Amino acid sequence: MIKLSQNENAFGTPPLALKAIAEQGQEVFRYPDANHEDLIEKLADKHNVKPDNIIVSAGSVALLDMSIMSFVSSGENVVTAEVTWVGYKIIAKIKKKECRLAKLVDNAISLENVLSLCDDKTKLVLLANPNNPTSTMISHDELKEFMRQIPPDVYVVSDEAYAEYITEDDYPDTMELQKTYPNLLIFHTFSKIYGLAGLRIGYAITHPDVIKSLMPYKMPFSIPNLAAAAASAALDDTEYVEKCAAINAEERDFLYTELSGMGFDITVPHGNFVFIDLSSAEERARVDNHLRNVGISVRALEPFGSETALRITVGQPEENRYLVKCLKAVK
Ligand SMILES: Cc1ncc(COP(=O)(O)O)c(C=O)c1O
Repeated sequence: MIKLSQNENAFGTPPLALKAIAEQGQEVFRYPDANHEDLIEKLADKHNVKPDNIIVSAGSVALLDMSIMSFVSSGENVVTAEVTWVGYKIIAKIKKKECRLAKLVDNAISLENVLSLCDDKTKLVLLANPNNPTSTMISHDELKEFMRQIPPDVYVVSDEAYAEYITEDDYPDTMELQKTYPNLLIFHTFSKIYGLAGLRIGYAITHPDVIKSLMPYKMPFSIPNLAAAAASAALDDTEYVEKCAAINAEERDFLYTELSGMGFDITVPHGNFVFIDLSSAEERARVDNHLRNVGISVRALEPFGSETALRITVGQPEENRYLVKCLKAVK
């Protein structure tokens, strides 16, 4: 099976991270570090902030869990987009919190619609940028204006899981916005371009007071040294990461051109995945089944909020060409 269903790095784990995993593997009989200060310092250097602006976690899902626990009390709500990463809805549901879903406009997150769902019980807004699954992007000016309008006691997450794949100039400079808006949290993960989805590690950058309010909800020993060592080495493998981003950009353009040329309703993509709307659940199932039969798995999106669309991860060049061939046949 060619797996194009979970937006992982199509080229796998960075070589330096694989080396660190092999070395650190000898030590897994030991409990992990409680704080991972070395990794936090490295991340602080990378983003030009202080270590007390960073919290590491067992992936973005753990950050979401901590954020909802810390910010959203009983009777209060979370607002996100109608078609977005299913993780938001899942964690809100587990935590028994209302999760309001703002309608998209042209498959993109409409911050106007998000704002219109916020009331005095809204404590957390979750924005995936680029949005998963639609691969659209919120621009700097749009986010800046949104932050100006949102009350300061509402926490806003800019989930930048796929930020390294962005090639647009007007992607938000959230580090800059955070200087004015301490209620802004920036989520990053090692699950995507850093190729470590199986090791469960991510981090958030935000105001030290926000970190302090998240910390009580952090599960002790939730980040293995193996994951921290791999993450640290992946950060050092800049050449590999840049190469993956560059190939992704070329291949994403290739898929966009080919698929739109074939008449698919494809949204202009900004992440390492494309979104095609097949206009009916039957047609979506037909295309999905055909791809599965020829050995390609892609993502059907009911849990994300769309019955008619498919999300396809940008694969390796030969995988993408095979995908195009198979899509031509099904068309
Ligand atoms: C928007 C978004 N955020 C975060 C993640 C990754 O989460 P994690 O760090 O828990 O692997 C994903 C994975 O699909 C995602 O789409």
